[in-house]
Amino acid sequence: MAAPTLRLSSRLALVTGGGSGIGRAVCQRFAKDGASVAVVDIDEGAATETLRSLSSDQQQHSVFITDVTSSKSVHKLVADIQMQFSRPPCVAVNCAGITVDGLLLKMQEEAFDQVLKVNLKGTFLVTQTVAKALVASGAKKGSIINVGSIVGKVGNVGQANYTASKAGVVALTKSSAKELARFGIRCNTILPGFIDTPMVAKVPQKVLDTVRSGRRLFLLGIGRQQLHHGSQSGSDRRAFHVTFKQSTGSRENKWPELAAPGHLDGIWLVDPAAH
Ligand SMILES: NC(=O)c1ccc[n+]([C@@H]2O[C@H](COP(=O)([O-])OP(=O)(O)OC[C@H]3O[C@@H](n4cnc5c(N)ncnc54)[C@H](O)[C@@H]3O)[C@@H](O)[C@H]2O)c1
Repeated sequence: MAAPTLRLSSRLALVTGGGSGIGRAVCQRFAKDGASVAVVDIDEGAATETLRSLSSDQQQHSVFITDVTSSKSVHKLVADIQMQFSRPPCVAVNCAGITVDGLLLKMQEEAFDQVLKVNLKGTFLVTQTVAKALVASGAKKGSIINVGSIVGKVGNVGQANYTASKAGVVALTKSSAKELARFGIRCNTILPGFIDTPMVAKVPQKVLDTVRSGRRLFLLGIGRQQLHHGSQSGSDRRAFHVTFKQSTGSRENKWPELAAPGHLDGIWLVDPAAH
């Protein structure tokens, strides 16, 4: 009997921030589901470690060292991917992100600029460059998934810069969705709650407690989505998939924003296979 076709077979996925935390888990899940993965990160050691952890059947994975804040670096990234894989990625996940926390009254201008540059400008550059490549290649469809944050919706003490950047990611994604729908490119934002990664290790306990106490807010926005929970065991335990049932077969981006429910240790993905 022929082996079953994996959900993401023949897909090429680019994942920024692929060297750590959520980005690494996304790379691993995509690889397991049959996609070829371009692991993109500014940290070569971390990205290589992710690469080593990826399962592979027929597919090919590769590391691309990129600074998402630099247009030159992002253009080179997409050109290099096209050179290596002979096509642009049809799935792009913007996961690279940083925090430089501090109270508003004390926040340095550099801390504001730095966070906006990685989280918002980086998402813009990758979205624009991948979309241009997809349109130029005549690809019929694509999926861009941006990682926002629930705190971009509700605010958070000590994170004026970070929350502003994540609110910006939502608006950027909504506008991108409206513009790119006619090219068959869907754009969605995921708004995770706190997930235990190296990024969160830096957040003071007091701040974590404040956000967790607002847990009900994490349930915003899931009403009409069909949720698929992934395996509950092993390294897969925290990986969940969210299928945008409404967008299946549709060129419209009806649900460009999704708040992850209150599983503080869950990872929620828009299903890149749902076209
Ligand atoms: N962990 C959480 O609780 C949480 C909650 C909501 C949203 N998020 C968002 O999820 C995304 C991933 O977060 P994480 O917790 O996995 O963080 P992480 O720190 O574990 O990983 C972030 C990755 O981004 C990379 N990166 C940083 N700057 C970069 C740059 N200029 N160019 C390329 N890569 C760069 C880092 O090297 C790192 O590998 C971020 O956008 C974050 O804001 C995280």
